[in-house]
Amino acid sequence: MENITKVYSNGFVANKNVNFSIHEGEIHALVGENGAGKSTLMKMLFGSEKPDEGRILLHGKEIHIDNPTVAIQYGIGMVHQHFMLVPSLSVADNLVIGMEPKKKGFYDVAKAEAIAREASEKYNLIVDPKAKVIDLSVGLKQKVEILKALVRGAKILILDEPTAVLTPQETKELFIELKNLKKQGYTVVFISHKLHEVKELCDRVTVLRAGKMIGVEEIVNVSEQDISRMMVGRDVRLNIDKERAVAKETVLKVSHVNKANALGKQVLKDVSFQIPRGVILGIAGVEGNGQSEISEIISGMDRDFDGEVEVNGKSTRNMSVRELRENGVAHISEDRMTYGIVGDGSIAENIISDRYYKKKFQKGLLLDQKKIDHMVEELIDKFNVKCDGKDQPIRMLSGGNMQKVVAAREFTNHADLIIANQPTRGIDIGASMFLRNKLVELRDAGASVLLISADLSEVMEVSDRLIVMCGGKISAYFENAEDITEEEMGLYMLGLKQMTPEEIRRASN
Ligand SMILES: Nc1ncnc2c1ncn2[C@@H]1O[C@H](COP(=O)(O)OP(=O)(O)O)[C@@H](O)[C@H]1O
Ligand SMILES: [Mg+2]
Repeated sequence: MENITKVYSNGFVANKNVNFSIHEGEIHALVGENGAGKSTLMKMLFGSEKPDEGRILLHGKEIHIDNPTVAIQYGIGMVHQHFMLVPSLSVADNLVIGMEPKKKGFYDVAKAEAIAREASEKYNLIVDPKAKVIDLSVGLKQKVEILKALVRGAKILILDEPTAVLTPQETKELFIELKNLKKQGYTVVFISHKLHEVKELCDRVTVLRAGKMIGVEEIVNVSEQDISRMMVGRDVRLNIDKERAVAKETVLKVSHVNKANALGKQVLKDVSFQIPRGVILGIAGVEGNGQSEISEIISGMDRDFDGEVEVNGKSTRNMSVRELRENGVAHISEDRMTYGIVGDGSIAENIISDRYYKKKFQKGLLLDQKKIDHMVEELIDKFNVKCDGKDQPIRMLSGGNMQKVVAAREFTNHADLIIANQPTRGIDIGASMFLRNKLVELRDAGASVLLISADLSEVMEVSDRLIVMCGGKISAYFENAEDITEEEMGLYMLGLKQMTPEEIRRASN
Protein backbone atom coordinates (compact mmCIF):
# COMPACT_ATOMS: atom_id res chain seq x y z
CA MET A 1 0.00 0.00 0.00
CA GLU A 2 1.65 3.20 -1.24
CA ASN A 3 0.97 6.74 -0.02
CA ILE A 4 -2.51 5.89 1.12
CA THR A 5 -4.71 8.76 2.28
CA LYS A 6 -8.25 8.30 3.50
CA VAL A 7 -10.59 11.15 4.33
CA TYR A 8 -13.97 10.16 5.73
CA SER A 9 -17.08 11.99 4.56
CA ASN A 10 -17.07 14.19 7.67
CA GLY A 11 -13.65 15.49 6.66
CA PHE A 12 -11.70 13.38 9.16
CA VAL A 13 -8.31 12.28 7.84
CA ALA A 14 -7.97 8.69 9.12
CA ASN A 15 -4.89 7.76 7.08
CA LYS A 16 -2.32 10.23 5.73
CA ASN A 17 0.31 9.14 3.19
CA VAL A 18 0.61 5.70 4.73
CA ASN A 19 3.07 3.18 3.31
CA PHE A 20 2.46 -0.39 4.38
CA SER A 21 3.92 -3.54 2.94
CA ILE A 22 3.76 -7.19 3.89
CA HIS A 23 5.94 -10.07 2.80
CA GLU A 24 4.56 -13.38 1.69
CA GLY A 25 4.52 -15.90 4.51
CA GLU A 26 5.05 -13.50 7.40
CA ILE A 27 2.91 -12.58 10.37
CA HIS A 28 2.89 -8.81 10.35
CA ALA A 29 1.68 -6.78 13.31
CA LEU A 30 -0.20 -3.55 12.71
CA VAL A 31 -0.26 -1.60 15.96
CA GLY A 32 -1.36 1.80 17.17
CA GLU A 33 -3.57 3.37 19.78
CA ASN A 34 -7.33 3.38 19.43
CA GLY A 35 -8.24 5.65 16.55
CA ALA A 36 -4.78 5.50 14.95
CA GLY A 37 -6.30 4.30 11.67
CA LYS A 38 -5.49 0.56 11.71
CA SER A 39 -8.98 -0.72 10.84
CA THR A 40 -9.37 1.98 8.21
CA LEU A 41 -6.14 0.97 6.48
CA MET A 42 -7.10 -2.69 6.46
CA LYS A 43 -10.65 -1.98 5.30
CA MET A 44 -9.08 -0.42 2.20
CA LEU A 45 -7.06 -3.57 1.61
CA PHE A 46 -10.27 -5.56 1.96
CA GLY A 47 -12.24 -3.27 -0.33
CA SER A 48 -14.80 -2.13 2.21
CA GLU A 49 -13.41 1.43 2.15
CA LYS A 50 -11.79 3.28 -0.75
CA PRO A 51 -8.58 5.30 -0.49
CA ASP A 52 -8.71 8.93 -1.64
CA GLU A 53 -5.08 8.80 -2.69
CA GLY A 54 -2.41 6.19 -3.17
CA ARG A 55 -2.00 2.80 -4.80
CA ILE A 56 -2.26 -0.81 -3.77
CA LEU A 57 0.13 -3.28 -5.38
CA LEU A 58 0.02 -7.06 -5.21
CA HIS A 59 3.21 -8.84 -6.29
CA GLY A 60 4.31 -5.59 -7.92
CA LYS A 61 1.15 -5.00 -9.94
CA GLU A 62 -1.30 -2.23 -9.16
CA ILE A 63 -4.77 -3.53 -8.33
CA HIS A 64 -8.09 -1.85 -7.63
CA ILE A 65 -10.01 -3.39 -4.78
CA ASP A 66 -13.46 -1.95 -5.25
CA ASN A 67 -15.27 -4.23 -2.82
CA PRO A 68 -14.72 -7.31 -0.65
CA THR A 69 -15.67 -9.65 -3.47
CA VAL A 70 -12.77 -8.31 -5.50
CA ALA A 71 -10.50 -8.57 -2.45
CA ILE A 72 -11.28 -12.24 -2.05
CA GLN A 73 -10.60 -12.81 -5.76
CA TYR A 74 -7.12 -11.46 -5.06
CA GLY A 75 -6.84 -13.81 -2.08
CA ILE A 76 -7.34 -11.20 0.63
CA GLY A 77 -9.63 -12.10 3.54
CA MET A 78 -10.52 -10.22 6.70
CA VAL A 79 -11.94 -11.17 10.09
CA HIS A 80 -13.54 -8.08 11.60
CA GLN A 81 -13.63 -7.06 15.25
CA HIS A 82 -17.34 -7.80 15.27
CA PHE A 83 -18.12 -11.15 13.77
CA MET A 84 -20.43 -11.33 10.81
CA LEU A 85 -21.83 -14.83 11.14
CA VAL A 86 -25.50 -15.78 10.99
CA PRO A 87 -26.22 -17.08 14.51
CA SER A 88 -29.19 -19.25 13.64
CA LEU A 89 -27.31 -21.20 10.97
CA SER A 90 -24.84 -24.04 11.38
CA VAL A 91 -21.07 -23.74 11.05
CA ALA A 92 -21.18 -25.42 7.63
CA ASP A 93 -24.01 -23.13 6.41
CA ASN A 94 -22.01 -20.08 7.46
CA LEU A 95 -18.84 -21.29 5.79
CA VAL A 96 -20.45 -21.64 2.36
CA ILE A 97 -22.72 -18.59 2.47
CA GLY A 98 -22.81 -17.02 -1.00
CA MET A 99 -21.11 -20.08 -2.55
CA GLU A 100 -23.53 -22.79 -1.49
CA PRO A 101 -22.94 -26.20 -3.10
CA LYS A 102 -26.04 -27.35 -5.03
CA LYS A 103 -27.54 -30.69 -5.91
CA LYS A 104 -30.37 -30.72 -8.46
CA GLY A 105 -30.81 -27.03 -7.86
CA PHE A 106 -31.11 -27.36 -4.10
CA TYR A 107 -28.70 -26.50 -1.30
CA ASP A 108 -26.55 -29.58 -0.63
CA VAL A 109 -26.15 -29.70 3.15
CA ALA A 110 -24.05 -32.86 3.12
CA LYS A 111 -21.59 -31.29 0.69
CA ALA A 112 -21.41 -28.11 2.79
CA GLU A 113 -20.62 -30.18 5.85
CA ALA A 114 -17.97 -32.10 3.92
CA ILE A 115 -16.34 -28.81 2.86
CA ALA A 116 -16.41 -27.65 6.46
CA ARG A 117 -14.92 -30.88 7.78
CA GLU A 118 -12.18 -30.91 5.17
CA ALA A 119 -11.17 -27.29 5.79
CA SER A 120 -11.33 -27.76 9.52
CA GLU A 121 -8.87 -30.64 9.25
CA LYS A 122 -6.60 -29.07 6.66
CA TYR A 123 -6.07 -25.89 8.67
CA ASN A 124 -6.32 -27.57 12.03
CA LEU A 125 -9.11 -25.24 13.12
CA ILE A 126 -11.34 -27.64 14.96
CA VAL A 127 -15.07 -26.90 14.81
CA ASP A 128 -18.16 -29.06 14.50
CA PRO A 129 -19.76 -28.44 11.06
CA LYS A 130 -23.24 -29.24 12.37
CA ALA A 131 -23.09 -26.97 15.44
CA LYS A 132 -25.29 -23.86 15.42
CA VAL A 133 -23.21 -20.69 15.55
CA ILE A 134 -25.42 -19.29 18.32
CA ASP A 135 -24.22 -22.07 20.63
CA LEU A 136 -20.51 -21.48 20.01
CA SER A 137 -18.08 -19.69 22.30
CA VAL A 138 -16.44 -16.54 21.01
CA GLY A 139 -13.23 -18.45 20.37
CA LEU A 140 -15.02 -20.99 18.19
CA LYS A 141 -16.91 -18.30 16.29
CA GLN A 142 -13.59 -16.75 15.47
CA LYS A 143 -12.33 -20.06 14.09
CA VAL A 144 -15.41 -20.17 11.85
CA GLU A 145 -14.65 -16.65 10.60
CA ILE A 146 -11.07 -17.60 9.80
CA LEU A 147 -12.21 -20.76 8.02
CA LYS A 148 -14.76 -18.74 6.09
CA ALA A 149 -11.98 -16.58 4.68
CA LEU A 150 -9.77 -19.61 3.95
CA VAL A 151 -12.42 -21.64 2.08
CA ARG A 152 -12.95 -18.58 -0.11
CA GLY A 153 -9.29 -18.75 -1.09
CA ALA A 154 -7.70 -16.14 1.17
CA LYS A 155 -3.89 -16.23 1.09
CA ILE A 156 -3.56 -13.01 3.03
CA LEU A 157 -5.56 -13.05 6.23
CA ILE A 158 -6.28 -9.81 8.08
CA LEU A 159 -7.29 -10.25 11.71
CA ASP A 160 -8.62 -7.10 13.38
CA GLU A 161 -7.88 -7.28 17.12
CA PRO A 162 -8.63 -11.00 17.25
CA THR A 163 -7.46 -11.52 20.82
CA ALA A 164 -9.52 -8.70 22.36
CA VAL A 165 -12.35 -11.16 22.96
CA LEU A 166 -10.35 -14.28 23.84
CA THR A 167 -9.25 -15.92 27.08
CA PRO A 168 -5.53 -16.71 27.50
CA GLN A 169 -6.14 -20.35 26.51
CA GLU A 170 -8.01 -19.37 23.37
CA THR A 171 -5.30 -16.85 22.50
CA LYS A 172 -2.64 -19.52 22.86
CA GLU A 173 -4.63 -21.81 20.60
CA LEU A 174 -5.09 -19.05 18.02
CA PHE A 175 -1.35 -18.39 17.97
CA ILE A 176 -0.62 -22.05 17.31
CA GLU A 177 -3.16 -22.01 14.47
CA LEU A 178 -1.71 -18.84 12.97
CA LYS A 179 1.86 -20.13 13.16
CA ASN A 180 0.61 -23.27 11.48
CA LEU A 181 -0.97 -21.22 8.67
CA LYS A 182 2.27 -19.33 8.27
CA LYS A 183 4.09 -22.65 7.87
CA GLN A 184 1.67 -23.51 5.07
CA GLY A 185 2.66 -20.29 3.30
CA TYR A 186 -0.17 -18.00 4.37
CA THR A 187 0.38 -14.36 5.22
CA VAL A 188 -1.22 -12.80 8.27
CA VAL A 189 -1.83 -9.19 9.30
CA PHE A 190 -2.37 -9.14 13.03
CA ILE A 191 -3.91 -5.96 14.46
CA SER A 192 -3.44 -5.56 18.18
CA HIS A 193 -2.38 -3.20 20.87
CA LYS A 194 -1.23 -5.92 23.23
CA LEU A 195 2.47 -5.68 22.76
CA HIS A 196 3.50 -8.90 24.47
CA GLU A 197 1.33 -10.75 21.92
CA VAL A 198 2.96 -8.90 19.07
CA LYS A 199 6.38 -9.85 20.43
CA GLU A 200 5.39 -13.47 20.79
CA LEU A 201 3.67 -14.01 17.46
CA CYS A 202 4.86 -11.63 14.79
CA ASP A 203 7.83 -11.27 12.46
CA ARG A 204 7.59 -7.55 11.78
CA VAL A 205 5.58 -4.65 13.10
CA THR A 206 4.22 -1.48 11.50
CA VAL A 207 3.22 1.33 13.84
CA LEU A 208 0.53 3.89 13.08
CA ARG A 209 -0.03 7.03 15.09
CA ALA A 210 -2.81 9.54 14.40
CA GLY A 211 -3.26 8.24 10.86
CA LYS A 212 0.42 8.33 9.97
CA MET A 213 2.91 5.53 9.46
CA ILE A 214 5.56 5.94 12.14
CA GLY A 215 7.81 3.03 11.30
CA VAL A 216 8.26 -0.62 10.46
CA GLU A 217 10.63 -2.87 12.39
CA GLU A 218 11.77 -6.46 12.66
CA ILE A 219 10.27 -7.72 15.91
CA VAL A 220 13.60 -9.01 17.19
CA ASN A 221 15.02 -5.50 17.03
CA VAL A 222 12.44 -3.75 19.23
CA SER A 223 11.23 -4.08 22.83
CA GLU A 224 7.67 -3.56 24.03
CA GLN A 225 8.81 -0.22 25.42
CA ASP A 226 10.22 0.76 22.00
CA ILE A 227 6.94 -0.09 20.27
CA SER A 228 4.83 1.76 22.81
CA ARG A 229 7.05 4.80 22.44
CA MET A 230 6.43 4.74 18.68
CA MET A 231 2.69 4.34 19.28
CA VAL A 232 2.33 7.16 21.78
CA GLY A 233 5.10 9.47 20.68
CA ARG A 234 6.75 9.66 24.08
CA ASP A 235 7.84 7.32 26.82
CA VAL A 236 4.97 5.79 28.77
CA ARG A 237 5.32 4.02 32.03
CA LEU A 238 3.84 0.60 31.42
CA ASN A 239 3.75 -0.65 34.98
CA ILE A 240 1.81 0.22 38.09
CA ASP A 241 3.56 1.22 41.28
CA LYS A 242 1.92 -0.08 44.34
CA GLU A 243 2.60 -1.21 47.83
CA ARG A 244 0.83 -4.07 49.52
CA ALA A 245 -2.78 -3.25 50.41
CA VAL A 246 -3.65 -2.52 54.01
CA ALA A 247 -7.22 -3.68 54.60
CA LYS A 248 -9.35 -1.75 57.07
CA GLU A 249 -13.05 -1.90 57.93
CA THR A 250 -15.60 -3.24 55.46
CA VAL A 251 -17.23 -0.74 53.09
CA LEU A 252 -19.10 -2.90 50.60
CA LYS A 253 -20.85 -6.07 51.56
CA VAL A 254 -22.69 -8.09 48.93
CA SER A 255 -24.69 -10.99 50.38
CA HIS A 256 -26.37 -13.82 48.51
CA VAL A 257 -27.34 -11.79 45.48
CA ASN A 258 -29.47 -13.66 42.97
CA LYS A 259 -30.99 -12.27 39.83
CA ALA A 260 -33.04 -13.63 36.97
CA ASN A 261 -33.16 -11.67 33.72
CA ALA A 262 -36.27 -10.78 31.72
CA LEU A 263 -36.26 -14.21 30.09
CA GLY A 264 -36.22 -15.92 33.48
CA LYS A 265 -32.61 -16.99 33.13
CA GLN A 266 -30.58 -16.95 36.33
CA VAL A 267 -27.79 -14.44 35.62
CA LEU A 268 -26.45 -14.08 39.17
CA LYS A 269 -26.26 -17.06 41.46
CA ASP A 270 -25.67 -16.53 45.14
CA VAL A 271 -22.95 -13.90 44.75
CA SER A 272 -21.36 -12.82 48.03
CA PHE A 273 -18.20 -10.81 48.69
CA GLN A 274 -16.99 -7.81 50.57
CA ILE A 275 -14.44 -5.05 50.09
CA PRO A 276 -12.70 -3.28 52.94
CA ARG A 277 -11.21 0.20 52.85
CA GLY A 278 -7.74 0.24 51.36
CA VAL A 279 -8.36 -2.65 48.98
CA ILE A 280 -8.98 -3.00 45.24
CA LEU A 281 -11.08 -6.02 44.48
CA GLY A 282 -11.11 -7.02 40.82
CA ILE A 283 -13.73 -9.06 39.03
CA ALA A 284 -12.41 -10.93 36.02
CA GLY A 285 -14.32 -13.07 33.59
CA VAL A 286 -15.36 -13.50 30.00
CA GLU A 287 -17.92 -10.80 29.31
CA GLY A 288 -21.51 -11.77 29.84
CA ASN A 289 -20.95 -13.90 32.93
CA GLY A 290 -22.72 -11.61 35.38
CA GLN A 291 -20.20 -8.80 35.74
CA SER A 292 -22.38 -6.05 34.26
CA GLU A 293 -25.38 -7.23 36.27
CA ILE A 294 -23.51 -7.10 39.56
CA SER A 295 -22.09 -3.69 38.69
CA GLU A 296 -25.57 -2.33 37.91
CA ILE A 297 -26.94 -3.65 41.17
CA ILE A 298 -24.15 -2.20 43.30
CA SER A 299 -24.28 1.16 41.56
CA GLY A 300 -28.02 1.42 42.18
CA MET A 301 -29.13 1.24 38.56
CA ASP A 302 -30.87 -2.09 39.04
CA ARG A 303 -33.07 -2.88 42.02
CA ASP A 304 -34.67 -6.04 40.75
CA PHE A 305 -32.64 -8.66 42.63
CA ASP A 306 -32.72 -10.90 45.67
CA GLY A 307 -30.17 -10.60 48.43
CA GLU A 308 -28.52 -7.64 50.08
CA VAL A 309 -26.05 -4.93 49.18
CA GLU A 310 -24.71 -2.79 52.00
CA VAL A 311 -22.43 0.22 51.88
CA ASN A 312 -20.98 1.37 55.19
CA GLY A 313 -23.38 -0.94 56.97
CA LYS A 314 -26.53 0.46 55.34
CA SER A 315 -28.66 -1.42 52.85
CA THR A 316 -28.68 0.41 49.53
CA ARG A 317 -31.89 -1.16 48.30
CA ASN A 318 -34.08 1.89 48.74
CA MET A 319 -31.51 4.56 48.06
CA SER A 320 -31.81 6.80 45.01
CA VAL A 321 -28.69 7.26 42.92
CA ARG A 322 -28.12 10.64 44.59
CA GLU A 323 -28.54 9.12 48.06
CA LEU A 324 -26.13 6.41 47.09
CA ARG A 325 -23.58 9.01 46.07
CA GLU A 326 -24.11 10.87 49.31
CA ASN A 327 -23.56 7.63 51.13
CA GLY A 328 -20.12 7.39 49.55
CA VAL A 329 -20.45 5.60 46.22
CA ALA A 330 -18.77 6.80 43.02
CA HIS A 331 -19.07 5.14 39.67
CA ILE A 332 -17.08 5.27 36.48
CA SER A 333 -18.59 3.18 33.76
CA GLU A 334 -17.49 1.88 30.39
CA ASP A 335 -20.63 3.28 28.81
CA ARG A 336 -19.70 6.88 29.45
CA MET A 337 -21.93 8.20 26.68
CA THR A 338 -25.05 6.83 28.39
CA TYR A 339 -24.32 7.17 32.08
CA GLY A 340 -21.18 9.20 32.59
CA ILE A 341 -21.61 12.44 30.73
CA VAL A 342 -23.93 14.92 29.10
CA GLY A 343 -22.45 15.17 25.61
CA ASP A 344 -23.71 18.64 24.83
CA GLY A 345 -22.59 19.99 28.18
CA SER A 346 -19.23 21.66 28.67
CA ILE A 347 -16.37 20.07 30.55
CA ALA A 348 -17.14 22.33 33.50
CA GLU A 349 -20.83 21.41 33.54
CA ASN A 350 -19.98 17.74 33.47
CA ILE A 351 -17.55 18.05 36.34
CA ILE A 352 -19.90 20.00 38.61
CA SER A 353 -23.08 18.10 37.73
CA ASP A 354 -22.88 16.10 40.96
CA ARG A 355 -21.97 18.90 43.33
CA TYR A 356 -23.40 22.24 42.21
CA TYR A 357 -26.13 21.95 44.83
CA LYS A 358 -23.68 21.71 47.69
CA LYS A 359 -23.36 24.58 50.09
CA LYS A 360 -19.75 25.41 49.39
CA PHE A 361 -20.55 26.23 45.75
CA GLN A 362 -23.41 28.57 46.59
CA LYS A 363 -23.38 32.25 47.28
CA GLY A 364 -26.73 33.28 48.65
CA LEU A 365 -29.29 31.88 46.25
CA LEU A 366 -26.83 31.69 43.35
CA LEU A 367 -23.90 29.52 42.44
CA ASP A 368 -20.47 30.77 43.36
CA GLN A 369 -19.17 30.85 39.81
CA LYS A 370 -15.66 31.92 40.70
CA LYS A 371 -15.21 29.10 43.14
CA ILE A 372 -16.62 26.61 40.65
CA ASP A 373 -14.38 27.84 37.83
CA HIS A 374 -11.37 27.59 40.04
CA MET A 375 -12.17 24.02 41.09
CA VAL A 376 -12.84 22.94 37.50
CA GLU A 377 -9.59 24.42 36.22
CA GLU A 378 -7.67 22.73 38.98
CA LEU A 379 -9.22 19.35 38.13
CA ILE A 380 -8.59 19.72 34.38
CA ASP A 381 -4.97 20.28 35.26
CA LYS A 382 -4.73 17.52 37.86
CA PHE A 383 -6.39 14.95 35.61
CA ASN A 384 -4.41 15.93 32.56
CA VAL A 385 -7.47 16.59 30.42
CA LYS A 386 -6.33 17.74 26.99
CA CYS A 387 -8.84 20.38 25.86
CA ASP A 388 -9.23 23.96 24.69
CA GLY A 389 -10.63 25.05 28.04
CA LYS A 390 -13.32 24.30 30.58
CA ASP A 391 -16.14 25.57 28.36
CA GLN A 392 -15.43 23.21 25.47
CA PRO A 393 -18.31 20.76 24.82
CA ILE A 394 -17.25 17.41 26.19
CA ARG A 395 -18.28 15.52 23.04
CA MET A 396 -15.39 17.21 21.20
CA LEU A 397 -12.86 15.35 23.35
CA SER A 398 -11.26 12.00 22.58
CA GLY A 399 -12.53 8.97 24.50
CA GLY A 400 -9.54 9.03 26.81
CA ASN A 401 -10.03 12.67 27.72
CA MET A 402 -13.79 12.22 28.25
CA GLN A 403 -13.05 9.39 30.62
CA LYS A 404 -10.59 11.61 32.48
CA VAL A 405 -13.34 14.23 32.92
CA VAL A 406 -15.63 11.56 34.36
CA ALA A 407 -12.79 10.46 36.63
CA ALA A 408 -12.13 14.06 37.66
CA ARG A 409 -15.70 14.15 38.96
CA GLU A 410 -16.03 10.64 40.35
CA PHE A 411 -12.60 10.37 41.94
CA THR A 412 -12.83 13.65 43.80
CA ASN A 413 -16.06 13.37 45.74
CA HIS A 414 -14.38 11.59 48.63
CA ALA A 415 -16.15 8.33 47.95
CA ASP A 416 -15.74 5.34 50.22
CA LEU A 417 -16.51 2.94 47.39
CA ILE A 418 -15.42 3.46 43.80
CA ILE A 419 -17.00 1.24 41.18
CA ALA A 420 -14.84 1.19 38.08
CA ASN A 421 -16.54 -0.78 35.34
CA GLN A 422 -14.28 -1.23 32.29
CA PRO A 423 -12.73 2.15 33.10
CA THR A 424 -10.12 2.08 30.34
CA ARG A 425 -11.92 0.32 27.53
CA GLY A 426 -11.25 1.93 24.18
CA ILE A 427 -9.00 4.68 25.48
CA ASP A 428 -5.34 5.37 24.82
CA ILE A 429 -2.45 3.90 26.80
CA GLY A 430 -1.46 7.17 28.42
CA ALA A 431 -4.95 7.79 29.82
CA SER A 432 -5.33 4.12 30.81
CA MET A 433 -2.13 4.14 32.84
CA PHE A 434 -3.14 7.44 34.42
CA LEU A 435 -6.53 6.07 35.53
CA ARG A 436 -5.09 2.79 36.81
CA ASN A 437 -2.54 4.60 38.93
CA LYS A 438 -5.32 6.91 40.18
CA LEU A 439 -7.29 3.89 41.41
CA VAL A 440 -4.25 2.79 43.39
CA GLU A 441 -3.87 6.31 44.83
CA LEU A 442 -7.50 6.33 45.91
CA ARG A 443 -7.03 2.96 47.55
CA ASP A 444 -4.00 4.29 49.40
CA ALA A 445 -6.08 7.23 50.54
CA GLY A 446 -8.52 4.78 52.14
CA ALA A 447 -11.18 4.09 49.53
CA SER A 448 -12.41 0.64 48.61
CA VAL A 449 -12.41 -0.05 44.89
CA LEU A 450 -14.41 -2.51 42.82
CA LEU A 451 -12.70 -2.96 39.45
CA ILE A 452 -14.54 -4.85 36.74
CA SER A 453 -12.54 -5.39 33.61
CA ALA A 454 -12.46 -7.68 30.62
CA ASP A 455 -8.80 -6.75 30.18
CA LEU A 456 -7.13 -9.55 32.06
CA SER A 457 -3.74 -7.91 32.45
CA GLU A 458 -5.41 -4.75 33.78
CA VAL A 459 -7.52 -6.51 36.37
CA MET A 460 -4.60 -8.70 37.49
CA GLU A 461 -2.13 -5.88 37.73
CA VAL A 462 -4.31 -3.31 39.48
CA SER A 463 -6.26 -5.53 41.89
CA ASP A 464 -5.21 -6.65 45.36
CA ARG A 465 -7.86 -9.35 45.55
CA LEU A 466 -9.56 -11.14 42.71
CA ILE A 467 -12.85 -12.80 41.95
CA VAL A 468 -13.48 -14.75 38.77
CA MET A 469 -17.07 -14.95 37.53
CA CYS A 470 -18.35 -17.68 35.27
CA GLY A 471 -21.99 -18.40 34.47
CA GLY A 472 -23.26 -15.84 37.00
CA LYS A 473 -21.35 -17.47 39.84
CA ILE A 474 -18.13 -16.76 41.58
CA SER A 475 -15.85 -19.52 40.34
CA ALA A 476 -12.72 -18.46 42.19
CA TYR A 477 -11.55 -16.06 44.86
CA PHE A 478 -7.95 -15.04 45.50
CA GLU A 479 -6.97 -13.16 48.61
CA ASN A 480 -3.69 -12.26 46.89
CA ALA A 481 -3.96 -11.31 43.24
CA GLU A 482 -0.24 -11.96 42.87
CA ASP A 483 -0.69 -15.65 43.61
CA ILE A 484 -2.22 -16.52 40.28
CA THR A 485 -1.11 -16.78 36.65
CA GLU A 486 -3.06 -15.69 33.59
CA GLU A 487 -3.33 -19.31 32.47
CA GLU A 488 -4.90 -20.40 35.72
CA MET A 489 -7.31 -17.46 35.60
CA GLY A 490 -8.32 -18.59 32.13
CA LEU A 491 -9.32 -22.01 33.46
CA TYR A 492 -11.67 -20.43 36.01
CA MET A 493 -13.00 -17.97 33.43
CA LEU A 494 -13.94 -20.79 31.09
CA GLY A 495 -15.45 -22.87 33.89
CA LEU A 496 -12.85 -25.62 33.45
CA LYS A 497 -11.94 -25.15 37.08
CA GLN A 498 -14.14 -24.16 40.00
CA MET A 499 -13.24 -23.58 43.64
CA THR A 500 -15.26 -25.24 46.38
CA PRO A 501 -17.91 -23.18 48.19
CA GLU A 502 -15.67 -23.19 51.28
CA GLU A 503 -12.77 -21.68 49.36
CA ILE A 504 -15.04 -19.03 47.89
CA ARG A 505 -16.71 -18.25 51.21
CA ARG A 506 -13.49 -16.52 52.28
CA ALA A 507 -14.46 -13.74 49.87
CA SER A 508 -17.43 -12.79 52.01
CA ASN A 509 -15.76 -12.45 55.38
N1 LIG B 1 -16.96 5.91 8.87
C1 LIG B 1 -16.25 6.84 9.52
N2 LIG B 1 -16.56 8.14 9.43
C2 LIG B 1 -15.84 9.09 10.07
N3 LIG B 1 -14.78 8.83 10.87
C3 LIG B 1 -14.43 7.55 11.02
C4 LIG B 1 -15.14 6.48 10.37
N4 LIG B 1 -14.55 5.31 10.71
C5 LIG B 1 -13.54 5.62 11.53
N5 LIG B 1 -13.47 6.95 11.71
C6 LIG B 1 -12.47 7.66 12.53
O1 LIG B 1 -11.20 7.42 11.99
C7 LIG B 1 -10.23 7.24 13.02
C8 LIG B 1 -9.50 5.95 12.82
O2 LIG B 1 -10.41 4.88 13.04
P1 LIG B 1 -9.97 3.36 12.95
O3 LIG B 1 -9.32 3.11 11.65
O4 LIG B 1 -11.15 2.56 13.28
O5 LIG B 1 -8.87 3.30 14.11
P2 LIG B 1 -8.23 2.03 14.85
O6 LIG B 1 -8.69 0.80 14.16
O7 LIG B 1 -6.76 2.25 14.77
O8 LIG B 1 -8.70 2.13 16.27
C9 LIG B 1 -10.99 7.30 14.33
O9 LIG B 1 -10.80 8.57 14.91
C10 LIG B 1 -12.42 7.10 13.94
O10 LIG B 1 -13.29 7.80 14.80
MG1 LIG C 1 -9.84 -0.77 14.90
